[in-house]
Amino acid sequence: MFTYTANPARVVFGSGTLSVVPDEVRRLGAGRVLLIASKSAADAAGQTVAALGPLLAARFDGPVMHTPVEVTERAMELVAGHAVDCLVAIGGGSAIGLAKALALRTDLPQIVVPTTYAGSEMTPVLGQTENGRKTTQSSPKVLPEVVVYDVDRTLGLPVPTSLTSGVNAMAHAVEALYAANAHPVVDQFALEAIRLLASALPRIAADPSDVDARTEALRAAWLAGSCLGSVGMGLHHKLCHTLGGSFGLPHAETHTVVLPYAMAYNAPSAPEAMRRIAEALGAPDAPTAVFDLVAALPVPHSLAEIGLAEGDLAQAAELATAQPYPNPRELARDGIADLLRQAWDGTRPAPAEGAPPDLRALTEEVVDSFAATPDLRLRQLLSELVRTLHSYVVRTDLTQDEWEYAIGFLTRTGQISSDTRQEFILLSDTLGVSSVVDVLANSRTPDTTPSAVLGPFYVEGPPETDQGADLADGLPGTPLWTDVQVTEPDGTPVPDAVVDVWQSNEDGFYDVQLPDLDGPVLRARFRTDAGGRLRFRTIVPSAYPIPDDGPVGAMLAAAGRHPYRAPHVHFMIAKPGYRTLVTQLFVRGGEYLDSDTVFGVKDGLIVDFAEQDSPAPDGQTRWRRLDFTFRVSPA
Ligand code: BEZ
Ligand code: FE
Repeated sequence: MFTYTANPARVVFGSGTLSVVPDEVRRLGAGRVLLIASKSAADAAGQTVAALGPLLAARFDGPVMHTPVEVTERAMELVAGHAVDCLVAIGGGSAIGLAKALALRTDLPQIVVPTTYAGSEMTPVLGQTENGRKTTQSSPKVLPEVVVYDVDRTLGLPVPTSLTSGVNAMAHAVEALYAANAHPVVDQFALEAIRLLASALPRIAADPSDVDARTEALRAAWLAGSCLGSVGMGLHHKLCHTLGGSFGLPHAETHTVVLPYAMAYNAPSAPEAMRRIAEALGAPDAPTAVFDLVAALPVPHSLAEIGLAEGDLAQAAELATAQPYPNPRELARDGIADLLRQAWDGTRPAPAEGAPPDLRALTEEVVDSFAATPDLRLRQLLSELVRTLHSYVVRTDLTQDEWEYAIGFLTRTGQISSDTRQEFILLSDTLGVSSVVDVLANSRTPDTTPSAVLGPFYVEGPPETDQGADLADGLPGTPLWTDVQVTEPDGTPVPDAVVDVWQSNEDGFYDVQLPDLDGPVLRARFRTDAGGRLRFRTIVPSAYPIPDDGPVGAMLAAAGRHPYRAPHVHFMIAKPGYRTLVTQLFVRGGEYLDSDTVFGVKDGLIVDFAEQDSPAPDGQTRWRRLDFTFRVSPA
């Protein structure tokens, strides 16, 4: 069971959205705005003053960090003195904090334009300081009514603040995933926020005016802020709170340094959350991946660097564990002391026990070795092959023995192949790869007949035969009278199309598999008549096993899979100016239709080979009919 209280706020997101503020004021039915702006947002504030025009009642430009009550009281005088009925705050935590503090006292509606990634705008939580003491409280009054995310307003956010407030946002998302009251909706916000931040922060470091990266980071900040507003935070937030409150360390920088260590501490007790974070980061281990991400950013990397005295470490551990609070792993003083010591030094945390080794650098080295491949498509195919193979080996934790077996298997697959035996195609068929390639290449037009794999028994250039001929040439089997038509998708007949037909005999063999046969049987080339029609006689095909005396057969046996194909007749239909159609028609009611060993059956290709009551044109009494229209598309 879980409960989810969505914090109701209207969000306007995009580029240039600052301009909607006056409309949003009117939407709230307000007309006397107090504009609160951080110093860093002076530009945006100036623009908003102009845009608000007569809607502006007063302006307060001095919000202060940690929302001191004295400052709030000065702003309260403006609210009262100017009959303010709406608060507009532009800036970071100070401006938003002040608007929240005013809303707590007055219940005035707030429109907030955040310019950092800290996420406070999405929470009903307010922290205030009075006589140097910080207290926090939660109230729906504090939650902003409207949040305007304007990507343009973040472009000028200095790189250090961008990065540290970005990691701060990531911390909200990380802790949401292992919160005691975590739940699936917030999990999705958290994972998306982590993914977006991991991608955006290095790009912002490289180019702070990268609009795409800024957009991703701001979206992540919104999502991470929602996490912070919805579920409880754990060890990481507690540590940062302690370090900030008792030792005066800067807020966002502290978050940036502590996060990987808090994660490493919690990892043994939150394996599923860590697995999902690692997956979002594309890394084998979450804490070290976050460490590596932060290590590559131009931000502080140790508590020593941001001013914690070594002598304060013991007291910090003491304070952080003095009171119990929800956290996945029990708060052991020694463990927290170790954590803080590592964070003080800035050393890389050890990967979680059992985490696979990090092979990303090796993979990238191999991919890079193909970087100069002149043929771009070849470069793409080789790079993706390397990535996919490496990922397969890592994900399956492939052993040396298994690797050797695979090499031996492929060697045998090559050795058994010849002009008449193509074991690699069989391998591709039985792994479903041939069908995937076929569907990708041929199934993009829903109004044409589906295609199906060619198979190994096609022989080029079969003898051209007159319509009406008997393909079976006297072989035993149930007679089948076939009457098909080839048309365009709209039904226009396609005359003079070359139609190759081949199939198995009653025992499930093709002529090429029967050394005693002289010449082609159960295979021929026809031409459609002026009406696009083709009639011939044959016998009903049987199910048959694919050649299973080689390595592919051994694989099927080891997997407990049968080697059979559902009964079918092959068709290849070609005419200049049309896309060649290679397909098969399957006998409805035949064996193995839902377990065809090469995954070739498609619903649209299962056809009635209808048993007949009245005698056939040649007087036969037991016979079947096959009627079908092939729709081919002009090239
Ligand atoms: C066939 O239908 O002829 C076939 C297709 C794939 C593998 C073996 C046989
Ligand atoms: Fe076949």
